[in-house]
Amino acid sequence: MVEIDRIIAAIGQAASLDELEALRVGHLGKSGDISALMKQLGGMSPEDRKTFGPLYNGYRRDAEVAIAARKGALEGAALEARLAAERVDLTLPAPEAPRGTIHPVSQVMDELAEIFADMGFAVASGPEIEDGWHNFTALNMPESHPARAMHDTFYFPNRNSAGEEMLLRTHTSPVQIRTMLAEGAPLRIIAPGRVYRSDSDATHTPMFHQVEGLVIDKGIHLGHLKWTLETFLKAFFERDDIVLRLRPSYFPFTEPSVEVDTGYSFQGGRRVIGGSGDDAGHSWMELLGSGMVNRHVLAAGGLDPDEWQGFAFGVGVDRLAMLKYGMNDLRAFFDGDVRWLQHYGFSALDVPTLSGGVGTPA
Ligand code: PHE
Repeated sequence: MVEIDRIIAAIGQAASLDELEALRVGHLGKSGDISALMKQLGGMSPEDRKTFGPLYNGYRRDAEVAIAARKGALEGAALEARLAAERVDLTLPAPEAPRGTIHPVSQVMDELAEIFADMGFAVASGPEIEDGWHNFTALNMPESHPARAMHDTFYFPNRNSAGEEMLLRTHTSPVQIRTMLAEGAPLRIIAPGRVYRSDSDATHTPMFHQVEGLVIDKGIHLGHLKWTLETFLKAFFERDDIVLRLRPSYFPFTEPSVEVDTGYSFQGGRRVIGGSGDDAGHSWMELLGSGMVNRHVLAAGGLDPDEWQGFAFGVGVDRLAMLKYGMNDLRAFFDGDVRWLQHYGFSALDVPTLSGGVGTPA
């Protein structure tokens, strides 16, 4: 005997989908008790079938409806439970994400590119592993030249196939030669990059950074050089009171050569560029080397020195960064200490622009 009310009640109380499935199999499955009743119908007389057919079909339909209803209720409850467990509270603060910074050297190089681009300069580059011809000879320093020995050069043990000694470039000036040879004249370039000298103390590291500047055109003179440097330094240090002092000097690759000093004062124990070095409380500091490109250098670059003139300058990028952002030990630049980078580094999103300010610490 099938007690349909008891079956419907049990279905309505099934505590889980598994339990419900077991009830379905037990009543409506192949060997379930309701299924067994349905099978009996086939062997009945037509009169009996008229009586029991609707009754048994009613059992089956009631059981099916009850199972579907309970299934819906159990699934709904399971979904509610999952939603409650997986809820995200969007009002909580965002988790702290690891955040890198832009190294001050990279930042200053970007600032230089931005400032000089505004004056029509392109950015050029050359190899850090150079040959003696580009690093010295073409820059008017033949093998016998004393300046060549003064450069504290890192040499490779072997010469190249052209018989040239191989070295780590000691300055960015070889990029002058490479650019003249590759592009001819006129030219307006800066060439930032790594240079190497075997030298090490608080203000010298065996690897450091320079930016070379080179302008080649017709009728170029020292006035152009001075204006360019003044304009650059005013934009870089973001102040108008930059005063330059040009001192006669000597570089084999420029004639005449001028060393450029800038006035500064001490403020809060730190050198601040600005004012004349002759003002009260001010001094001069040597900032960079420059001059008119030597005729021999123009010729080595494939240019006719009677037709083209130019000026060049070279300045330490690390030094510029130290002066602008107030670091005092160059060695820390290359320690890779994350705490130093967090302090002195720049936000990756703070791209230097002339309108937005070329450099704002993170
Ligand atoms: N190459 C020189 C140095 O490293 C700097 C310089 C560049 C001087 C260009 C004059 C002209 O000291």
